[in-house]
Amino acid sequence: MKIRKSLFPAAGYGTRFLPATKSIPKEMLPVLDKPLIHYGVAECIEAGLDEVNIILGRGKGAIEDYFDKNYELETEIAHKPKKVKLLESVNSVIASGTFTFRRQGAMLGLGDAILKAQSMIGDEPFGVVLADDICDTEGDSVMKQMVEVYEKYQCSVVAIMEVPKDKTESYGVISGSEEEEGVFKVSEMVEKPKPEEAPTNLAIIGRYILTPDVFPILEQTEAGAGGEVQITDALNVLAKAGKVVAYKFKGKRFDCGSVDGYVEAINHFYGR
Ligand code: UTP
Repeated sequence: MKIRKSLFPAAGYGTRFLPATKSIPKEMLPVLDKPLIHYGVAECIEAGLDEVNIILGRGKGAIEDYFDKNYELETEIAHKPKKVKLLESVNSVIASGTFTFRRQGAMLGLGDAILKAQSMIGDEPFGVVLADDICDTEGDSVMKQMVEVYEKYQCSVVAIMEVPKDKTESYGVISGSEEEEGVFKVSEMVEKPKPEEAPTNLAIIGRYILTPDVFPILEQTEAGAGGEVQITDALNVLAKAGKVVAYKFKGKRFDCGSVDGYVEAINHFYGR
């Protein structure tokens, strides 16, 4: 089945970026002139996932407004072509996608945020983007690369990268057998393992393609690492049944949920 839908869990508190995230959604922090979530949504639309679903929480209204027409502003600047031009990138994203929003309620973790999207997604595969991970590639975007992997393997796909062994505690980590260059059949997934307990240094980043059979598993998944419902724990059930592949994407990823990664991203895109 062709993948049409994308999901952006964006309800988290963003505590690593306090105090900025006390009143600004993390996903709205700008990298140059565009907020983080813009990059992810544009990536999905470019990959054909133009039905965009966003999970929000308290204080996240700016995200909804960003993907809406602002008549007052556009009327004010209508006679200033240079200013109108500055809105082109977001207006093109708005025109190319359909946007649906839902609230998470209690922030019980990424797995819970994804479960909240079940009625929006229905019975079809979908892409998930964590907007604070932005990726830059030479050719196809990471989501587009992953769609190709999904079309070949027809199961859930997680994007991975190698991380230093002492950093595994910040990620979900996979182990498995390499089926072809860069594609692993996953046998096990662990969320935030201590370096001495991590099976490998292959860490999951914020790009997934999930099949809808993850929903009934998420319903049964109890809180794990950090007291949150973890998507990694639900995917581990699918992995044990041979239904998850991990894909070492081509490109560079920036963790903009942390100040260091955010600064690195700004320098990278500014120098481009
Ligand atoms: P993070 O682990 O980055 O958590 O969530 P966070 O709350 O955003 O940030 P920190 O760690 O406190 O700094 C990964 C993604 O999952 C979403 C977040 O918005 C982010 O995009 N998320 C997380 C939810 O939508 N709901 C949750 O309950 C937790």
